[in-house]
Amino acid sequence: MGVLVAGYGVSHTAMMIRKFRPEDPIHQRVHHAFGRLREEIDRLAPDLMVVIGSEHLNSFGYEAFPQICVGIGQTCTGWGDGGVASAQVPLAGGFAAQLLEDGLEAGFDLAFSGNPRIDHAFMAPLSLIRPEMDIPVVPVWQNASTEPIPPLWRSADLGVLIRDVVGRRPSAERVVLLGTGGLSHWVATPDMGTVNTAFDEGLLDAVRAGDLDRLVAMKIADVVTAAGNGAPEIRNWITVMAAQPGPGDVLAYASVPDWATGIALARLFPQDAP
Ligand SMILES: [Fe+2]
Repeated sequence: MGVLVAGYGVSHTAMMIRKFRPEDPIHQRVHHAFGRLREEIDRLAPDLMVVIGSEHLNSFGYEAFPQICVGIGQTCTGWGDGGVASAQVPLAGGFAAQLLEDGLEAGFDLAFSGNPRIDHAFMAPLSLIRPEMDIPVVPVWQNASTEPIPPLWRSADLGVLIRDVVGRRPSAERVVLLGTGGLSHWVATPDMGTVNTAFDEGLLDAVRAGDLDRLVAMKIADVVTAAGNGAPEIRNWITVMAAQPGPGDVLAYASVPDWATGIALARLFPQDAP
């Protein structure tokens, strides 16, 4: 049986790397928070990380666009998009294969990629949290941008599936979940650069309270209206929260208009101090 040792939510904009200015105190605070998270995950010594990110029409196109996709195989390759360096990242192939098979059994018609190429949704946070790229990952894509977008409860169901897979693993591997994306942001629209701090704070209040029901009840259209066409990426946080519901802990939040995003890092479920 595997062990779910921690679950986190972090923003993933490539701008926090491409447009990082060390002399800016807000930028510095965000990078400092990522540094602390890096140390925390290092102490947890996970055997693998399931990284739930969003697709930005980099890895898949309109010819076949998955709602949920699992990367399988032995390695994944960063696209090198958005100013985030490319890298080879080991893939936890045993876990990925079981997630795919158990998902089918549980009613998830999961797509899969046997040659996963991962963009900044994965590589931006990984380059800050684990630049060594030496912890095997399982990349999981959720559609948060390309209509029709699945309802948010589907992401909660995915979190339950991932938890169940951890519980059925044949060895006591230590698993960290990392949901990436959000918070409020508008992409390639006239509102780009706007941050809805009230929406972001409401989301983080729900994280602190472990109020998964409130988040799952939100409609995608309402999320887009309030917090931008990039905000449905919070579905990746919902997946992690649903894996082990309970109060979370916000590690950092900053409205960063020059990165066009509300940036946050959070523990998304209760855990022992690492
Ligand atoms: Fe994104």
